[in-house]
Amino acid sequence: MSELAGYYRDRAGEYDAVYDKPERQEDLARLRALLPPLVRGRSVLEVAAGTGYWTTALSTTAESVLATDVNEETLAIARTRSYGSGDVRFQTADAYDLGAIPGRFDAIFAGFFWSHVPRADVRRFARGLLDRVEPGGVVILADNRYVEGSNYPITRTTDDGDTYQTRQLSDGRSYEVLKNFPSREELAADLAPAQVEWTELSYFWLATVC
Ligand SMILES: C[S@@+](CC[C@H](N)C(=O)[O-])C[C@H]1O[C@@H](n2cnc3c(N)ncnc32)[C@H](O)[C@@H]1O
Repeated sequence: MSELAGYYRDRAGEYDAVYDKPERQEDLARLRALLPPLVRGRSVLEVAAGTGYWTTALSTTAESVLATDVNEETLAIARTRSYGSGDVRFQTADAYDLGAIPGRFDAIFAGFFWSHVPRADVRRFARGLLDRVEPGGVVILADNRYVEGSNYPITRTTDDGDTYQTRQLSDGRSYEVLKNFPSREELAADLAPAQVEWTELSYFWLATVC
């Protein structure tokens, strides 16, 4: 298991606190409203779904959602959420090996995972997403913008341009976590020649890729 996966396994029980940050509430509501129209009637593969926070938004309009994550610990929490009459299933899967997931998907959503992909792996990860979505489908990405005081400070930058933060869990355990904050131009370059449509909020960005 990667260091990143281990960190999120250990954090699973307290992960959702990030969605209580008061300054982010307006943006969270906007993002939650932007997602359902993008996946209406689609078969969605959700990559690195975590505790299912965004799955609840996707499931309101999607034909189906297969929510995947490398950690059973986060999916166990996602399974406890309510999805109304939505067709939602869960499966452990590696975001770097999407070909191993059975099914056909005309939408892929990866929320707050792009930022955790090392620069050296970005092209491979992007290829994996674009290869997995059916022709005419859409890849949807959402992630953080860096906002002083709201995000953990950057503590280290590598020669590759990867930035790291030092994070602590409530029991005091400390982790160095890769967290990149790409600009619109960087993201578009990483996904070229696919076309990227970018929506910028104060704390988040949303990209649809076709
Ligand atoms: C920042 S969280 C995002 C969770 C969820 N998408 C959200 O926005 O609330 C990152 C997630 O990536 C998962 N993860 C880490 N490495 C992974 C991998 N290689 N494949 C799939 N999921 C992975 C973690 O378990 C964690 O749930």
